[in-house]
Amino acid sequence: MSNNDSKKTLSLQERLEKNIWALVLATAMVVSVGGIVEIVPLFYLKTTFEDQVHPEYEELAGVRPYHALELIGRDIYQREGCYLCHSQMIRPFRDEKDRYGHYSLAVESKYDHPFQWGSKRTGPDLARVGGKYSDDWHIQHLRDPRSLVPESVMPRYPWLDDELVDGFDIQKRMKAMKVIGVPYTDEQIHAAAAEVEGKTEMAALVAYLQVLGTMIQFEPGRDYRD
Ligand code: HEC
Repeated sequence: MSNNDSKKTLSLQERLEKNIWALVLATAMVVSVGGIVEIVPLFYLKTTFEDQVHPEYEELAGVRPYHALELIGRDIYQREGCYLCHSQMIRPFRDEKDRYGHYSLAVESKYDHPFQWGSKRTGPDLARVGGKYSDDWHIQHLRDPRSLVPESVMPRYPWLDDELVDGFDIQKRMKAMKVIGVPYTDEQIHAAAAEVEGKTEMAALVAYLQVLGTMIQFEPGRDYRD
């Protein structure tokens, strides 16, 4: 195509590519259609808000805000970047369910800010690791993973034994969680400092790991999408 007749023969794509604002607008339109198609159905699927669709589900679910020590453990989990190797999201596929247990429900993450679903699995999914091992196992594993699993590539976290958690800090964190919708009571926040006094970061992280996936008592064979 010569430059002279380019005006006449410009296709829609060529016109878009030559006008930055038209391109920005068209891109935004295409992306929003994609976004709408993905996101809007979630507002209508009952699995997104199980507890609201089935009032009895709330009871059954037993999902509660993290206790003070667990919440600190969760922050340590984020600080140490555990999510870079571990997801917390069991997908509804047979191989996943056979390995990790019941697939994750949205309601299980409702007090997680931000949620830790992740997608990178250098190590196993941890959504239901709570209760799988003893506290002692976790402590030993975090100090030196290869002492228990010789082929492990997980790093060692020995410094978690040395640091004590900060009781004043956790009260501020719980207040912040309250602002974004986690229903902590003033009594819980008040009691938090004493609750975590003298605990190590190791104890906090293990408390967090041990509660993961244990809040709902799943009945074998029941599909929670019903
Ligand atoms: C470099 C990647 C990597 C990082 C970072 C990492 N892990 Fe791991 N993790 C692994 C691998 C690989 C395994 C499997 C081998 C083993 O058990 O050590 C594992 C196993 C585990 C297990 C046992 C899971 C099971 O079901 O057997 C737990 C619990 C765990 N990690 C917790 C953590 C925590 C907590 C952190 C952050 C303090 C962390 N990991 C950081 C790679 C990692």
